[in-house]
Amino acid sequence: MIENSRIEEIREKADIVEVISSYTALKKKGKNYLALCPFHSEKTPSFTVSQEKQLFHCFGCGQGGNVFTFLMKIENLSFAEAVKLAADRVGIEFTLDAASAGKQFRQDNRALYAALDKAADFFQANMEKDEAANKYAAERGLTQKILDFFRIGSAPDSWDSIYKHLTQASFSVSDIEKAGLIIRKEDGSSYYDRFRKRLMFPIWDIQGRVIGFGARSLDGSSPKYINSPESPVYSKGSVVYGLNFSKDRIKEEKRVYLVEGYMDFIRCYAHGIKNIAASSGTSLTPLQIKALGRLAEEFVLVFDSDEAGAEASRRTIDLMRDMDLYPKVVTLAGGKDPDELIRKEGAEKFGELLRAAVPATRYRIDSAVRAHNIKEAEGKARAAKKCAAILSQEKNQIIRDEYIKYASQRLGINSDSLLAEIKRVSFYGGRSSKSSAPLKRPGSKVLKAERALIKLWMEVPAIRADLEGSVLAQEFSDPAAKKIFELLLTLKGLEEEKPYSSVTDMLNGEEEKKLLSQIALDRHEIVDYSAMLKDCSCVLKANSIKADIEELRQQMKEAEEAKDTEKLNSLQAQYLEHHGRLMSL
Ligand code: CTP
Ligand code: MN
Repeated sequence: MIENSRIEEIREKADIVEVISSYTALKKKGKNYLALCPFHSEKTPSFTVSQEKQLFHCFGCGQGGNVFTFLMKIENLSFAEAVKLAADRVGIEFTLDAASAGKQFRQDNRALYAALDKAADFFQANMEKDEAANKYAAERGLTQKILDFFRIGSAPDSWDSIYKHLTQASFSVSDIEKAGLIIRKEDGSSYYDRFRKRLMFPIWDIQGRVIGFGARSLDGSSPKYINSPESPVYSKGSVVYGLNFSKDRIKEEKRVYLVEGYMDFIRCYAHGIKNIAASSGTSLTPLQIKALGRLAEEFVLVFDSDEAGAEASRRTIDLMRDMDLYPKVVTLAGGKDPDELIRKEGAEKFGELLRAAVPATRYRIDSAVRAHNIKEAEGKARAAKKCAAILSQEKNQIIRDEYIKYASQRLGINSDSLLAEIKRVSFYGGRSSKSSAPLKRPGSKVLKAERALIKLWMEVPAIRADLEGSVLAQEFSDPAAKKIFELLLTLKGLEEEKPYSSVTDMLNGEEEKKLLSQIALDRHEIVDYSAMLKDCSCVLKANSIKADIEELRQQMKEAEEAKDTEKLNSLQAQYLEHHGRLMSL
């Protein structure tokens, strides 16, 4: 166990702004800092860091916590390891014994990895007797060698085969569910298999452990792919498909080809293009780009030539530019992806296209020019405006000058006219203005009240005694808010300010940490403390009485059906009494 005072010392010294800014570019905005969230893919920043509160929160994906939470998430560490890393950064002597690094803090995920690996075996074995899956695999040119190498299998057309197989192998139902392989029914009565009648592509972490599956429908039914849900071992925003196979080659060649799909990866790899990785559809997150940046210097985007692929290219280019990276882009003609292209036209032809990759800025200028009819003055003006917008985002002067020359040549205009256009764009529309308003999760009145009460407790020590006297933990309806409030009640009698960042470490669950950081960084100001307390406690009380009334109504219905008049009478009396309490609030 690490002493609490040591943890506090390290937390105080390791400034969250400093730590986070080595992962994503922070921009000061009012009291806080804003950035593109490293945990999910976004266009406008909703990732907020408060220096004063020493917390971060993403209003887009909901991740949040203190400096340790951040390091745990981004570096995939246990709590103790995160403390150690933070200590190293600020030069505090701190040694981590194996015991506290391992079992005490880290969730032990061994059972999940084992269950997933066992599931991969099961799907592979099933494939041997699955005619439909074999027929499909053959049509798609997946040879036995490929199937074996990538451990591709198939899920049977059954609701409980993986459930049975893994429970019989004595995995706990809870672990199988956590691994994302089974789903609990709405009514909670039982479970069913998530993947049925599909071709199963295992998804690996960079060390080659199976962490999830991508499941392709065999008959074109929708959705085309079902992927594993987020789990303690699988985080979609941080894993890059295929790096376990390709990392060495990427390092050697210092270049990575980024494709969209599992099949694109497999096809390229099977044809000897091994410095490759797949984004799995969406545009990349900063976290994924970081992971790739540790291996490669040059990034080449080889996305599908449909509109979705073009959009993914644009977003990835934007994101990379913010990280001072300059990818190249390959254009695949004719509505194809690498898999289709290699199958139809051969790896030779595909290799030529790869060699013809152009720098992102040139690619964007080319697309802008191509999208307009520059033979007419009006079309030319619109294309010039678009090019100016692209060039105005280019921070590097040398690169910018070079492309001003290039674009004006392509447009057939004077480079001074383009320069003037760039100045206009930067002046009027350079920075988008509406982009910074973070999305707030729509909350009901009750959830808002619960959050406000927690905020009150945290920020107004003088009101704590009143608050603890007038609100009960069981009146909370949001489970995470309830857990936080329960914790606060155990700190009873605490007079001084308790910083959010240290309360964060006392919370066990992920959800609670996220909620607390959201409450802390929510811009809602509390003006009249006691009025606020009164309002909120009323809302909670009313809500909990309403829940009781609902329950009574249900029981009354049952009693009526059972013709149990005695019970009905007693329930009615309770019902009226509840109503009276609700009215008097
Ligand atoms: N994807 C997904 N869910 C979907 C569609 C796509 O997760 N409903 C991801 C998969 O990782 C897929 C990638 O996005 O490999 C690329 O999507 P797309 O180009 O539509 O699929 P392909 O890989 O071309 O699929 P296929 O070749 O099997 O038709
Ligand atoms: Mn595709």
